[in-house]
Amino acid sequence: MSRVLVTGGAGFIPSNLIRHLLEHTRHDVVSLDALTYAGNLENLADVMSHPRLEFVHGDIRDAGLVAEVVGGVDVIVNAAAESHVEKSIEEGASEFVTTNVEGTQILLDAIREQPVERFLLVSSSEVYGTAVRAPMDEGHPLEPRSPYAATKAGGDRLAFSYRVTYGLPIVIVRPFNNYGPRQHPEKVVPRFVTQALSGEPLTIHGDGHATRDWLYVDDTAGAIEALIDAPLDTVAGEVVNVATGTDISVRAIAELVLEAVGSGSGSVVHLDERPGQVDRHIGSTEKLARLTGWRASVSFEEGLERTIAWYRENEAWWREILGRARVFSS
Ligand SMILES: NC(=O)c1ccc[n+]([C@@H]2O[C@H](COP(=O)([O-])OP(=O)(O)OC[C@H]3O[C@@H](n4cnc5c(N)ncnc54)[C@H](O)[C@@H]3O)[C@@H](O)[C@H]2O)c1
Repeated sequence: MSRVLVTGGAGFIPSNLIRHLLEHTRHDVVSLDALTYAGNLENLADVMSHPRLEFVHGDIRDAGLVAEVVGGVDVIVNAAAESHVEKSIEEGASEFVTTNVEGTQILLDAIREQPVERFLLVSSSEVYGTAVRAPMDEGHPLEPRSPYAATKAGGDRLAFSYRVTYGLPIVIVRPFNNYGPRQHPEKVVPRFVTQALSGEPLTIHGDGHATRDWLYVDDTAGAIEALIDAPLDTVAGEVVNVATGTDISVRAIAELVLEAVGSGSGSVVHLDERPGQVDRHIGSTEKLARLTGWRASVSFEEGLERTIAWYRENEAWWREILGRARVFSS
């Protein structure tokens, strides 16, 4: 039983991870979140008063606060990030560099001073760029194609260097594309779902041929739990994909969403192709299965059904976000 710091806890993956840890493990959880436009306390509303959860409002770039929080925990899952590719393209990389690279550096330096049992860096499959071979294993070249992806690669490689240089108990986790409840509608699956539920046309960048390896968010939470609980010597210093081993095109997802939402939902409109587009992502699942026995268990059809049901039931949640000043297009 450990005390686990999950940074970025009011975001999509981290809030689902926190709920998973509270429900399925006996770990205590601390979250540190700056509550940027992407952070939403509603994502934790049902667990906020849980006796095993502490929420700290603050920034991973605040070295003093980070030292204070890190001093009281055994395990760190650094999931806080500027996470939206399109925003990094349109607004520039500044916030992405400071949070995704410098924020990671501040956390890594904190554990040099105050050792922890293990540190999981939530990196991303985006660090690979587009597949030069399939499936993409952890040795696939790193060719990040957007400013977001480059900053994730920066944090990923910085963590690796701290492992090599200082022998710290670091695990680098590269999830492929996640979808599920509580994902900001700037991202493609919830954008399609909320557009379909509103009876609007679904907006696709380019012809929609680009594929991704789609992972239901509860599966990712299970993978992170497995990496927290695995014997340290089996995972320390390792880089691991979290993937399903199957890829689905954006166009196919649009069709599945339209079909699942049913009558009254609109058609599809094509926008310009996104600069920095990744054509294909399909992850190798072998290494994580070998190290921990974990494999994804939710099929895309099942995950999509659960996701649509959540967005149907939580219309006020996404309408409030859509009503704010700006939502990036994908
Ligand atoms: N969503 C995906 O498909 C996906 C895939 C692979 C990897 N990832 C990675 O997983 C992690 C979570 O992604 P997500 O989609 O849930 O992100 P998200 O944008 O939904 O949540 C990010 C959270 O981090 C917080 N945050 C941002 N900057 C911060 C800072 N400086 N200090 C403290 N908190 C800060 C935000 O307030 C927000 O609550 C990120 O590291 C992301 O790069 C995401």
